[in-house]
Amino acid sequence: MRDLKSILIGVAIPLAAIPSASAWGFVGHEVVATIAQIHLHPSVFPNMCTALNFTSTDPDVPLCHLAPPATWADRARFKMRWSAPMHYIGAVGDYPRQTCQFPGDHGWVGRKGYNVLEAIRNVTTLLEDWTADSVPSFTDDDTANEAIKFLIHFLGDMHMPLHLTDRDRGGNSDKVMFGNKESNLHSVWDSLLINKAVRVTPRNYSRPLPIPQIEFNLRGTIYDSYVRRIMWEGIMGQWKDEVESWLTCPPPSPAKDLDWSWGQSILSVWNQLSGKEGISIDTDDETICPYHWAKPVHALNCEIVWPAALDEPPYTHARLSDDTDDCHDHDDFALLEDDFASKPRTPKPHPKYLQLDTPEYAGAVEKEFVIEKLLAQGGIRLAGVLNYLFASVEGQSDIRASKLRIVTV
Ligand code: ADE
Ligand code: ZN
Ligand code: ZN
Repeated sequence: MRDLKSILIGVAIPLAAIPSASAWGFVGHEVVATIAQIHLHPSVFPNMCTALNFTSTDPDVPLCHLAPPATWADRARFKMRWSAPMHYIGAVGDYPRQTCQFPGDHGWVGRKGYNVLEAIRNVTTLLEDWTADSVPSFTDDDTANEAIKFLIHFLGDMHMPLHLTDRDRGGNSDKVMFGNKESNLHSVWDSLLINKAVRVTPRNYSRPLPIPQIEFNLRGTIYDSYVRRIMWEGIMGQWKDEVESWLTCPPPSPAKDLDWSWGQSILSVWNQLSGKEGISIDTDDETICPYHWAKPVHALNCEIVWPAALDEPPYTHARLSDDTDDCHDHDDFALLEDDFASKPRTPKPHPKYLQLDTPEYAGAVEKEFVIEKLLAQGGIRLAGVLNYLFASVEGQSDIRASKLRIVTV
C-alpha cells in the first residue's frame, strides 16, 4: 500500500519540528460522529462500512458506526507524527482577543498542506476517487480506510475554536483552573466543559426519545442523554430552521477554479490543491467548504473562548513556554470518570491561575449552548459530506449530488 502520508504530503519532515496536536476529547469526537450517524442516508452504509473495514452482523445495531473510528487519528498520532499539524490551523498575527485574523494579510502559520482545512479537502478528494466508478482508482482500500477515519476526526477538530488559532499553541500553553483542577485553556474546551455538560444533562434525557432514527444510533454510552438533548433542544428545536444553511457553501470566485478536466491525474489535482504547482491554496468549492464553515467557529475565539483576563494582571504570567507539551487529551476517559466520582465540588479560588468554572465563563458557554451548537454543526456537516461521498445516486457513485444533504429527523 502507498501510505497515506506520502500521498497526503509527499515529503518527510524532521520529527522534532512537529508541535503536539490534540483535539476535542473522545466525548466531543464521538458526539459529532453520533449526530452524523443519525443523519446518514441508508444507501451510504455498504460502501462507507467497507471503507471503514467494519460491518456488524447484529440486526439490532447499525451495520457500522462512526463513533469508534472518530478518535483513531488522536490515538494513532504518536505513530503518525507527520499528521500532527493536520489537526489544526492558525493565521499569522492571529492573537485573540486582541487581534482576530483568519487569515490576515500574511496567510497561515506552517507549511502548505499541513493544516486541518487542507487535510479535510485532501482526504475528501481521495475518497471521491475511491468511490468513483471509473477504473483504475488511484486510491487503494487501505488508503481509503485511513482517509475516512481522518475525515471523521478532522471535521470534529475543525469545529473546536482553539484548533483554528495558533496563539499559545491553541491555548495549550495557558494555565487555568477549572474547579479544583489545574488545567489549560485548550483542555477546558477539548474536554472539561463537555464533561460538565454531559454531567448536568437533565435526567429526563436518560429515557429514550420516541424517535427510532435517534435511538437506533445510540450505543449505551455515558453521553447518550447529551446527544438526545442536542437533537431535541438544538437540531429539532432552536436551530431547526438554520440546519440546512449549515450545509451550504458560497459560489467559488472564478479566479480560483481548479482544472478538473477529464483524464487529469488525481496527483495533479492534489498538487494543485497543495499549492505545489503555484496555485494558491483553496480548500473550498461550491459543495464542500471547510474554510467558509470554519470562519464563524474561529470568530468565537474573540467573542467568548479567549478570556480577556488572561491578558491582564495578575494572570499574564500563566503561560508555559511554547515547546512544553501539555496536551491532556489522552487522559480524557479518566478525566470524565474522575469528574463523575461524587467528590464535593467546592472550587477554591486559586491565587496563581484564572478560574474558568465560574458563572461568567463556563456558565455563559453553557447557557448559550455554544459547545452543543459546535458539536451539532460538526455532525451535520460530516453527515452531509459522507452522504455526498457514499450515497448512491441511481447506483452510480460518480454521479454526485451538487449540494450536501442529510436525512432529517
Ligand atoms: N498545537 C499548536 N497549535 C495547536 C492548536 N491550535 N490546537 C492543537 N494543538 C496545537
Ligand atoms: Zn485531532
Ligand atoms: Zn484539541
